[in-house]
Amino acid sequence: MSLNRGFHKLKIAEVRRETADAVSIRFDIPDELKERFAFQAGQHLTLRTDINGEDVRRNYSVCVSPSENEIRIAIKQMPAGRFSSWANTALREGEMVEVLPPMGRFLVPEDTGNDGYYVGLVGGSGITPVISILKTTLETQASAKFVLLYGNRSTASVMFLEELAGLKNRYMDRLELYHFLEDEADEIDLFNGRLDQEKCEAVFDSLIDVGSARAFFICGPGPMMDAAETALVARGVPPEKILIERFTSSALSAEQLAAREALQQKAAGTELTVTLDGRRSKLAFDPTKGSILDCVQAAGLPAPYACKGGVCTTCRARILEGRVTMTKNYGLTDEEVAGGYVLTCQSVPASDHVVLSYDE
Ligand code: FES
Repeated sequence: MSLNRGFHKLKIAEVRRETADAVSIRFDIPDELKERFAFQAGQHLTLRTDINGEDVRRNYSVCVSPSENEIRIAIKQMPAGRFSSWANTALREGEMVEVLPPMGRFLVPEDTGNDGYYVGLVGGSGITPVISILKTTLETQASAKFVLLYGNRSTASVMFLEELAGLKNRYMDRLELYHFLEDEADEIDLFNGRLDQEKCEAVFDSLIDVGSARAFFICGPGPMMDAAETALVARGVPPEKILIERFTSSALSAEQLAAREALQQKAAGTELTVTLDGRRSKLAFDPTKGSILDCVQAAGLPAPYACKGGVCTTCRARILEGRVTMTKNYGLTDEEVAGGYVLTCQSVPASDHVVLSYDE
């Protein structure tokens, strides 16, 4: 079997049970791939497998810091989650898995000095990239402080519970750790219930110096992330300090679907010139396929992708001529968009021809 573009077969060195419904997986990285798999705190890996003949891909965040000299991801089993169920029940040490090198822009801002004050707002498996960031900032910034607000259903479902407690002991004065549990009652009411907007407001009033924070790292269920973002924006926190890591995107509304359909119909037959792995191909945009990525794949070209939801940026390409309209973009920075980059899984032609490259 030939490998999909960009994927590498990695051997699983360890499968460790973290909670009843989550495992972490450590990969063996051969020497020749060490450089390709060097990562920054907060990045993720894309895994690929065939489940009942279907090519299924998911992104999972690295949960260790680069100084730990290993690469480990955590996978929580989701209700009806095909990939996460397979990973939690079928993956064993010694097996090979197809993996893309680390990607992602959920990173500690550069040039922040040694005394940053950071806040993590996290729900469930959203801890995965944030624990990597937390460990890294506390390790590499001598007087940095980190406040972690971590929401879960119950103590038993808290991922990395012991590791976090150990970090708290190690960084007694620099790490503040607050658990919020939905199904267990604490004496202090503030720590009961989910991190919704009201709870975020209460937390900001009592536990966080919102104005001093260099960055807020938000990762968790969609409603929790939206609530945290809304509460921060309402307090005047500038968007560049609010870093959000999404793994899935919300469904389009009926209006958005209708608007996208109209764009697709208008673009029917538009000529696409696509460069991929140094080869140029011409094809016509077919509205029945969906996006530019879907058309490229239907033409038999192995364009890279993972989420198909505008989140992971794996399908990034650069527009060299013409224009496209993107439905969603949770992943590209403003600079990348200004530089002509688009997410092809979200793109529909908006000019009479489009020339794009996956190689830039
Ligand atoms: S495939 Fe993830 S953003 Fe396009």
